[in-house]
Amino acid sequence: MSRISFFVTTCCLCLITAACTSGKKITTSKNSSSLKEAFKNDFGIGTALNAVQIEERDPRAALLILQQFNMATPENIMKAQVIHPQWAVYNFDMADKMVAYCQKNNIKVNAHTLIWHSQLPAFVRRIQSVDSFRTFFTDHIKTVASRYDGKVYSWDVVNEALNDDGTMRKSIFFQKLGGDFVTEAFRIAQSSAPNTQLYYNDYGNEQPAKRAGCIALIKKIQVAGVRIDGVGIQGHWHLGRIPLKEIEESILQYSALGIKVMFTELDIEVLPRSLQGADVNQRMIGDSSLNPYKNGLPDSVQQKLAADYEALFKLFLKYKGKIGRVAFWGVNDGQSWLNGWPVAGRTNYPLLFDRDFKPKPAFYKVLALKQ
Ligand code: G3I
Repeated sequence: MSRISFFVTTCCLCLITAACTSGKKITTSKNSSSLKEAFKNDFGIGTALNAVQIEERDPRAALLILQQFNMATPENIMKAQVIHPQWAVYNFDMADKMVAYCQKNNIKVNAHTLIWHSQLPAFVRRIQSVDSFRTFFTDHIKTVASRYDGKVYSWDVVNEALNDDGTMRKSIFFQKLGGDFVTEAFRIAQSSAPNTQLYYNDYGNEQPAKRAGCIALIKKIQVAGVRIDGVGIQGHWHLGRIPLKEIEESILQYSALGIKVMFTELDIEVLPRSLQGADVNQRMIGDSSLNPYKNGLPDSVQQKLAADYEALFKLFLKYKGKIGRVAFWGVNDGQSWLNGWPVAGRTNYPLLFDRDFKPKPAFYKVLALKQ
């Protein structure tokens, strides 16, 4: 970046930061400091939203979201546990609010998620007969997908159906309905939501074995004559270990199937961790050595994070025609799920904005790729 453009960018961001801190509304004519503006001809820029943000209860978050993002995914409020708490009870309050908030602000919603083994309401695990389970499965997809058809841009129809070795996860859906449940979910979604993009979403599916399983799953859906429009690679990666080669191969191989590739839950873990992936059922025993940056992130780590994000976005830009969306899993470091997983109560720094909503060096590196 030239010294002049660095100055301009820095000034713009000072304005944003000042406005965020004071809670005042600012307008920027040319947003040289906005991710969504910078990448508007390349791919959408998304974030995950929680209930506080959807209800605009945090003025600093509210400002930053409108400034930076043109796509959003509900972090939790469209999961079955929230939206379908009992057999015959649906709770659309928060989901309706999210759709209205995003409509008002020109943000495309990627709805998340129709079928996932995690965060299921308790009644689902008590269903005994296969017929009743199938009724729940069908009714859930039909009811939720049809309600938001044409109001959301896309659905993660099925989330995390695969093991790391590419075989099918032996989830409750697999056990009750067999391996065809993914195709069936897409078939029901297709008829319930004809105007909505339909995606399969997983973590670690850039790795060769899981990718092969994911490709087989997608082909199976296609061979059945059922529509699938894209695949989500979640992108929960670790500092200094971004699998760039595997990501590149995945973009090429998935897009060769005639579908779009999305990076759906991007964050970069900077803390020590012995687990891979994003399986929320796995946990690590915590001790203080696992929480080394309680009082702030050392500059050396901050710079590494910036370099990782820069390398990733360089790759995304190289394949911009094949990528629909790059979405971060959260607005700022303070609200990231990685403060609580796989060890509770840590201070993590995985995103582009810090706890005060200030852009981090990684943000500048990413933005500089477009200047
Ligand atoms: O809403 C309850 C609240 O009523 C209760 O008092 C509180 C006590 O623990 O829990 C609250 O629920 C928590 C929920 O987030 C909402 O904050 C759950 O315990 C907690 O487990 C849940 O974590 C979410 C996680 O999925 C579990 O499903 C994370 O916020 C969310 O970021 C994470 O997102 C997943 C994606 O959906 C799929 N890919 C992996 C990604 C990260 O795990």
